[in-house]
Amino acid sequence: MLSLKEKYKDYFQVGAAVNSDTVVKEGHIIKEHFDTITCENTMKFGEIYKENGAYDFADPDIVYNFAKDNNLKMRGHNFVWHNQTPRHIFDKSADEVRDILKNHILTMHDRYGECITCWDVLNECIEDKTDGYLRKSIWLDKFGEDYPKQVFAIARENLPKDVQLFYNDYNEYVPEKRDKIVRLIKSINDEDKLVDGVGLQCHVNLYYPTLDLVKEAIELYASLGLRIHVTEMDLSHFRFEDQTVLEKPDEKLVEKHAKLYGEYFALFREYKDYIDNVTLWGVSDRYTWLDYFPVRNRKNWPLLFDEEGNKKQAFYEVMDF
Ligand code: GLA
Repeated sequence: MLSLKEKYKDYFQVGAAVNSDTVVKEGHIIKEHFDTITCENTMKFGEIYKENGAYDFADPDIVYNFAKDNNLKMRGHNFVWHNQTPRHIFDKSADEVRDILKNHILTMHDRYGECITCWDVLNECIEDKTDGYLRKSIWLDKFGEDYPKQVFAIARENLPKDVQLFYNDYNEYVPEKRDKIVRLIKSINDEDKLVDGVGLQCHVNLYYPTLDLVKEAIELYASLGLRIHVTEMDLSHFRFEDQTVLEKPDEKLVEKHAKLYGEYFALFREYKDYIDNVTLWGVSDRYTWLDYFPVRNRKNWPLLFDEEGNKKQAFYEVMDF
């Protein structure tokens, strides 16, 4: 049987989010099935930039070396976010913070650029609530309303042209939020094209969103002339507000999960001219952030490989075309 990446080679690259543990324990699955990897957490600014201005590269080095040794490309994730940011730099002036960000971008490129083909420059800066545009964040407080454009300009000036720059967000298919994302990207790209692509995180569940909403969103983003990456896909068994704990999904749920995964990938294939990469937010159900969010220590089964690393029904559905 073909691997996932072989099956999809004429459509888009397939990727997985990894960490220094999964590249060891699930390295064989990653090597066989995925073209690209993303550091789940360890390349985030706040994770590696210490109070004294020194870096701790131990964890991202492990992932990067794995990528390099196995000829995998990486999505860089991420430079500017309201979370996992080194809060201590914000005591300084806006100009100093801009300089630190610029040096951070140069440092990351210098160390990891050989494998990284794109960066999520800005993550999740849009407000979820209907009344409100930009989310409150220390970056907004420090740089002002046009901070999205400022940070893209810094990234563009300091990275080679062939490194693609992405805006990445969740609930990207919810019409009100989607339209704000469109407004944001248009405002950043009003003079020069600074944003090359939009990252659709695609943290979805069995009940929401509808595929029609996802399709509408893909069409709208594509109409702006943007490349599209699905950056963090997982398919949870639970509605977001549902606190239920399940011992194991029954056969019906397993089937529903598999069928819906198949439908998502069929939709992505339909838009292969715009979509360059579909990344899953994890490798196997052995470890997923959804076991800790939004309910702590509740097992979830959102990926294509089970807890033992075996192919799930969802895997076969995704491969069935
Ligand atoms: C967001 C971020 C990711 C990650 C997930 C949770 O989607 O973009 O980096 O933190 O939340 O794992």
